[in-house]
Amino acid sequence: MKVGVVETPGVLKLVEREIPKIKNANDVLVKVKRVGICGSDIHIFHGKNPFAVYPRVWGHEFVGEVVETGTAVKSVKKGDHVVVEPIISCGECYACRQGRGNVCLNLKVFGVHIDGGCAEYVVVPEANAHILPADLPWDEAALIEPFTIGAQACYRGNVQKGDYVLVMGAGTIGLTVAAMAKLYGAIVIVSDLIDDKLAYAKSRGADYTINSGKENIFDRVNEITGGMGANVTVDAVCVKKTFEDAILLTSVAGRVVELSFSETPSEIAPVNIIKKEISVHGSRLQTKRFPVVIDFVKSGKLPLGGFVSKVYPISQMAEAFDYTEKNNASVRKVLISFD
Ligand SMILES: NC(=O)c1ccc[n+]([C@@H]2O[C@H](COP(=O)([O-])OP(=O)(O)OC[C@H]3O[C@@H](n4cnc5c(N)ncnc54)[C@H](O)[C@@H]3O)[C@@H](O)[C@H]2O)c1
Ligand SMILES: [Zn+2]
Ligand SMILES: [Zn+2]
Repeated sequence: MKVGVVETPGVLKLVEREIPKIKNANDVLVKVKRVGICGSDIHIFHGKNPFAVYPRVWGHEFVGEVVETGTAVKSVKKGDHVVVEPIISCGECYACRQGRGNVCLNLKVFGVHIDGGCAEYVVVPEANAHILPADLPWDEAALIEPFTIGAQACYRGNVQKGDYVLVMGAGTIGLTVAAMAKLYGAIVIVSDLIDDKLAYAKSRGADYTINSGKENIFDRVNEITGGMGANVTVDAVCVKKTFEDAILLTSVAGRVVELSFSETPSEIAPVNIIKKEISVHGSRLQTKRFPVVIDFVKSGKLPLGGFVSKVYPISQMAEAFDYTEKNNASVRKVLISFD
């Protein structure tokens, strides 16, 4: 079978490997249909992900069809269309005991710590395979994982109906946060530096947009919220300044949700957190958000059409990476197809 491997930083190759075999009774063999290219895959390609070990089959956003099941598998069957939850946790550490396997001490993420989804076939535990409607197009199914990131940010920020939610960044992740916040009944404000990205966010339901390169984001947020500030601010830009601004833009009793993996320290005066009793939450991957997103998709409330920028056949994997990198200002999601 064909497999996309980052052999060492900077070296991306399509290689032949044996089709993996089911080892555990609760494993399933998935024939992969689509794998999405994420910013973190690009980071792994360039050796900028501290957790990645090489050589590594990349890909954590993947969907496919179950073609074989282990003897103890009960929840999925041959022929099911599934999206794979790309996280393996130990089940024993403090986080796991709290039901938060996404921050497990021994966390293994497909495509990062262990081989991922850019392969014609992948073996995964049945618990990681979430069944999809059979009529959901594969190009849309592949977006479910990124939308779980948006769902997680809303969950961590405890987004409530009627809350003003400021989403900083109208990139792929910011758009998923904005979409999920709308589904929870929030009034959504999206900021970015690129007008086209803001226009797209608005076309997908954002109530207000702010070009923070041209407008004063503090003035605009105050104007929109009647001087209160955003009840929940989600940093999906992830630079030093947006984290600092997020604290200042948030209302009394508000929540800041940080998505950044950056190691650059920020300067935040503690008083700005305590005087408004702001809660600052990290949001990493997702905690049991796949069923939530799948239900919204099934109900028709979360339309996924029109989000994918381009689909490349696996034979053009290198071109797909190149296109993604060179068109960062306009790309939302590039997929690889195994059809
Ligand atoms: N915590 C998690 O689980 C998780 C998951 C996925 C991605 N991320 C992180 O989320 C971040 C965003 O990912 P993405 O795929 O959406 O990236 P992206 O590059 O598609 O989006 C970033 C957006 O921010 C905009 N931007 C840049 N500087 C800005 C500024 N100063 N003010 C306002 N907007 C600005 C860009 O124009 C772009 O639209 C990345 O840092 C990524 O590592 C975190
Ligand atoms: Zn991703
Ligand atoms: Zn654990």
